[in-house]
Amino acid sequence: MKAINVILDEHRSLAAVLHGMLYLTRAIRDDRMQPDFKLFGAMVYYIDAFPERLHHPKEDKYLFRLLRLRHPASGALLDRLHAEHVAGETKIRDVEAALRRYEHGGASHFHEFSEAVEAYATFHWAHMRAEEEEVLPLARQHLTQADWSEVDEAFAGNSDPMFGAAAGDEYEVLFRRIAHLAPPPIGVGPER
Ligand SMILES: [Fe+2]
Ligand SMILES: [Fe+2]
Repeated sequence: MKAINVILDEHRSLAAVLHGMLYLTRAIRDDRMQPDFKLFGAMVYYIDAFPERLHHPKEDKYLFRLLRLRHPASGALLDRLHAEHVAGETKIRDVEAALRRYEHGGASHFHEFSEAVEAYATFHWAHMRAEEEEVLPLARQHLTQADWSEVDEAFAGNSDPMFGAAAGDEYEVLFRRIAHLAPPPIGVGPER
């Protein structure tokens, strides 16, 4: 069940970037920091691209599909989580648009941006929690060994040609870049 560790790791990376965004917006609100739009841009890009292009499609295509097959009673839960994958795409667009207005329209747009960040983080945390506390225990219980080989291969090896190992590496590089841009305590970048 290597896939479980990969999913938990990917959730932790996303959560770290979400925490970072919340930390920065709160520091700006409290006048402890000036906005760094390059850093915000990299964070929004990561949160947008990584769950959308790699993480959620793998969950839908492998984990959710097999769990639905082995345990039909999980259908309603999986429908809801899949709907959240779709809704998340619109929600992160809202964050992106709010960031653009804040960057180009000035401080009067900060409140709208920080609200969008808070809303997105709350939404995504609840989503990841449901996957970890509801989906993964059910998958552990109902998936067969052959199912796990398929899911493990998709998550651990990125063997699916739709994603490819390079996609995983690309997000790793982007994550490191964020950590280098971000000031302490959320990253190792220059103090502001
Ligand atoms: Fe998900
Ligand atoms: Fe997930």
